[in-house]
Amino acid sequence: MTDSTLKLGDKDYPVRKGSVGPEVVDIRKFYAQSGMFTYDPGFTSTASCESGLTYIDGDAGVLLHRGYPIDQLAEQSSFMEVAYLLLNHELPSKDELDKFSYTISRHTMLHEQLAQFYRGFRRDAHPMAIMCGVVGALSAFYHDSTDITDPQQRMIASHRLIAKMPTIAAMAYKYSVGQPFLYPDNSLSYTGNFLRMTFGVPAEEYVVDPVVEAAMDKIFILHADHEQNASTSTVRLAGSSGANPFACIAAGIACLWGPAHGGANEAALNMLREIGRPERIPEYIARAKNKDDPFRLMGFGHRVYKNFDPRAKVLSKAASDVLDSLGINDPVLDTARELERIALSDPYFIDKKLYPNVDFYSGVILSAIGFPTTMFTVLFALARTVGWVAQWNEMISDPDQKIGRPRQLYTGPTQRDYVPVSQR
Ligand code: ACO
Repeated sequence: MTDSTLKLGDKDYPVRKGSVGPEVVDIRKFYAQSGMFTYDPGFTSTASCESGLTYIDGDAGVLLHRGYPIDQLAEQSSFMEVAYLLLNHELPSKDELDKFSYTISRHTMLHEQLAQFYRGFRRDAHPMAIMCGVVGALSAFYHDSTDITDPQQRMIASHRLIAKMPTIAAMAYKYSVGQPFLYPDNSLSYTGNFLRMTFGVPAEEYVVDPVVEAAMDKIFILHADHEQNASTSTVRLAGSSGANPFACIAAGIACLWGPAHGGANEAALNMLREIGRPERIPEYIARAKNKDDPFRLMGFGHRVYKNFDPRAKVLSKAASDVLDSLGINDPVLDTARELERIALSDPYFIDKKLYPNVDFYSGVILSAIGFPTTMFTVLFALARTVGWVAQWNEMISDPDQKIGRPRQLYTGPTQRDYVPVSQR
């Protein structure tokens, strides 16, 4: 909806209102009319698309999926329900949810040939490296769902990605510990099946612990989507050229891996373990504040949340619940709580509005469940696949969609004549 304009130079540009949140100035004609580009590295003031999926109010600590607050979804729904909601706009009825869960379960197996890909990796390969490679390789297998102009094929590719990601992730883990791969068991829930494929062994029956299953499902819900973050924007940009959907998700996984993004959960737990005990916290706080030291408190700070990250609130409580239920007394949780307390009373962190983010407590829970730190970002990628495919579908069905092609402020040499090497 347009109801006002903003004057830039001597031209008026339409200002568009969303349903909630900041308005945007539509500058699509700005270059044609002014001969200038806008400059916004890091996209701090740029809306790259129109979306109806996820809304974040960073100042108020609000995160909504299709209007539903994340804490309500985390406490009351399931990951399959949230996946349906993100893909299909509305929460499912009981029948719709059953049908959706059944459809996903029918795609959990990988093409047998794909298992061979794992054997090409070193046993000590990072599981994110394996995941990037194997998900990219899916594009060489499922040719009947890659006509992106067909909504039906797009939905099949989306279901395949959501369904196969737990199998791919569990196989990456099994490969690293030298245990046999387990085929999916579709009598289990999405999350229960993933836990069995990860921690089960063929020699024994695996019984899914309901506490662990619920905690894992909650972690998946909390990571399902997060608006136009770096990896989602990567998926959209890759997809904007009409690229194969599986290859686009592999691009998202590559972006997520970085320590400033999804890789922070691994880095956060490693940091907490390195700190080791609450007495050492001041030393690390001092390092985080020292401009000459590149060290940052991992799991702290966020580009958008400047009050609190609502996902961190849910996980902070879940961390205590899970450790209590499993009877685990991990000093890392005490270190995390004390670090949060000290940092949040320090003017440096208060002034810069740095709060724990989703990655701060998730590692404590994942570690209690039994995952090595290298698997943390893999679990994030598994859950975020839902958001990536929903955002990708939304982009492809948007009539305004164009190939993503940013411009630049060029500061290199101006034109000059080539000099043969013998004369240089
Ligand atoms: N520890 C110490 N100082 C910090 C931290 C931190 N974790 N985060 C930001 N700062 C400081 C910066 O040094 C900077 O200070 P300055 O203004 O004096 O230069 C200021 O706060 C602003 O930081 P920017 O890096 O400019 O903020 P930006 O929005 O670009 O970065 C980011 C956000 C990348 C998340 C950053 O806070 C960070 O590196 N955090 C640690 C990594 C992390 O936890 N990432 C996970 C994010 S959540 C997710 O992806 C799921």
